[in-house]
Amino acid sequence: MEQRSAIFDYQLHQTLIQTKNRDKYIKSIMSAFDFSAAFATTPSKFGFKSQHRVSTRRVRIVASSLWPNTNSVVSPPSPGESNGALEVNGAVDKSYSFLKCDGSKTVHAAERLGRGIVTDAITTPVVNTSVYFFKKTADLIDWKEKRQFSYEYGRYGNPTTTVLEEKMSALEGAESTLFLASGMCTSSVMFLALVPAGGHIVTTTDCYRRTRIFIANMLPKMGITATIIDPADIDALEAALENNKVSLFFTETPTNPFQRCVDIKLVSELCHRKGALVCIDGTFATPINQKALSLGADLVVNSATKYIAGHHDVLAGCISGSEKLISKVRSFHFILGGTLSPNSAYLVIRGMKTLHLRVQHQNSTALKLAKLLETHPKVQRVYYPGLPSHPEYALAKRQMFGFGGVVCFDIDGDIMRTIKFVDALKIPYIAPSFGGVESVVNQPAIMSYWDLQRLEREKYKIYDNTVRFCVGVETYEDLKDDILQALEII
Ligand SMILES: Cc1ncc(COP(=O)(O)O)c(C=O)c1O
Repeated sequence: MEQRSAIFDYQLHQTLIQTKNRDKYIKSIMSAFDFSAAFATTPSKFGFKSQHRVSTRRVRIVASSLWPNTNSVVSPPSPGESNGALEVNGAVDKSYSFLKCDGSKTVHAAERLGRGIVTDAITTPVVNTSVYFFKKTADLIDWKEKRQFSYEYGRYGNPTTTVLEEKMSALEGAESTLFLASGMCTSSVMFLALVPAGGHIVTTTDCYRRTRIFIANMLPKMGITATIIDPADIDALEAALENNKVSLFFTETPTNPFQRCVDIKLVSELCHRKGALVCIDGTFATPINQKALSLGADLVVNSATKYIAGHHDVLAGCISGSEKLISKVRSFHFILGGTLSPNSAYLVIRGMKTLHLRVQHQNSTALKLAKLLETHPKVQRVYYPGLPSHPEYALAKRQMFGFGGVVCFDIDGDIMRTIKFVDALKIPYIAPSFGGVESVVNQPAIMSYWDLQRLEREKYKIYDNTVRFCVGVETYEDLKDDILQALEII
């Protein structure tokens, strides 16, 4: 049996046992460790009486759980449940008499026979393992036969990552979430899992460049073609649905970098009528600002590298949706890899605890900056869905709870004047990415599209004087003063 390394440490009081879940609880413990045998041989140590009464003896439950490597019906035990090994202080042979030499002790001592890992820590333990073991072959067979849950191998699951996935599902209102090593990995695996070879997808013009490249250059290798529409062009979507057997509509909303918004409710209705799935890349919004699934989308992808983790210290991506769809994506991931490391999972969990606070602050700062910039004579145009001048302002107000922390704007000038502005800023880093606590600024024409000639860039509406300002959690007044002094200089 694979040992799930999350370890629950319980004080089993009589009062706990007398709760209405008593029988279920006792049963789970009994089955966890072939308890009947242990009970028969050492009943006094466990202190159980026939009517399931338990003394206040400290009992350690090592949760073991099966992670299905198929679309299995077996699901992980919810926190507090366990079907794993049960050990009681003193019941374990700590002498390691079967480990005679240092070479064996260094490898196995204190681990092989049960670890005293403290589990009443507030934080989630980082389970740094690539492999989980089975105590005996019968446990392995039970897992294979889907009679019990366990983990087996790092590519198929990890307890720390499971916690993260459940947290994300709770936020997105999803049945299931899969975390992967990056946002790009997540959307690539999603396309491969859900679009059949030779299939057709619809997507939108403004989007993260690598996603565009994947759709344009890599999906055709599987014979998958795409119709690309303007984010607001519903007629074009209807025509694409009419003229093709569309498997999937994929779009960011808001989009990168111009923050165009797509009507999730409307496109979901139209796509579902034709049997097409809808997958929303909600990276710019996060589940704090937009609940794509409750608006009708089937799936929502997030580059957790951005706001979700929020500290510029980890790459991660995730996809949330129904158990049925996510298990399809998960099955592909089991083969393709792109596994999130447990350390990264921990960093994302930690970051997520302040997601709502950061996003609310960033929403508020960005909106104030957008309004300020719009009135400035050296700024030609501002792209921010919270401004009435934005083409999808009404829609954004309807489907979002906040407008996000990224403000794009065009400097009144050429590339050199725009560079001068960016270089004059003192607070934001000149860097790619966004969503962290530090403000970040760049010119998309240089940061993301420099390898293309200007005319090529302009095909994607990437102009030399556009600035993408991604606010961090610094105080608004400092960012405002910084932007104003930089505009003053140019
Ligand atoms: C909207 C959007 N989706 C996906 C990605 C890719 O995410 P990652 O960098 O985590 O692979 C990005 C990256 O910037 C993005 O902006």
